[in-house]
Amino acid sequence: MSEFIRAASADEIPEDTGKLVEIDGQEIALFKSGAEICAIHNICPHAGGPLSEGGLREGRVICPWHGWEFDLKSGVSAFNPAIKVPVFKVKVENGSVFVRV
Ligand code: FES
Repeated sequence: MSEFIRAASADEIPEDTGKLVEIDGQEIALFKSGAEICAIHNICPHAGGPLSEGGLREGRVICPWHGWEFDLKSGVSAFNPAIKVPVFKVKVENGSVFVRV
């Protein structure tokens, strides 16, 4: 059964880009989306760009390589709804971010 694993402190996550963490051998990008923290797989399905280095626009991450955009909560591509990046459940407790992988 999967469980929540501590990934970072909430204050380590920048306002305008992501923070890369590795949990259970998976690269995961943490982002702030308004007051919420979101966790999305780091690898862009287009050509493997690092989503953790992407910018943010209206709740979406913009891949730094060719600009594909993915909703931070659902992982769905803004351009092609058939393309989706895995997203992970997040909880924040006492300033620590926990991710369920
Ligand atoms: S690798 Fe992400 S848009 Fe091309």
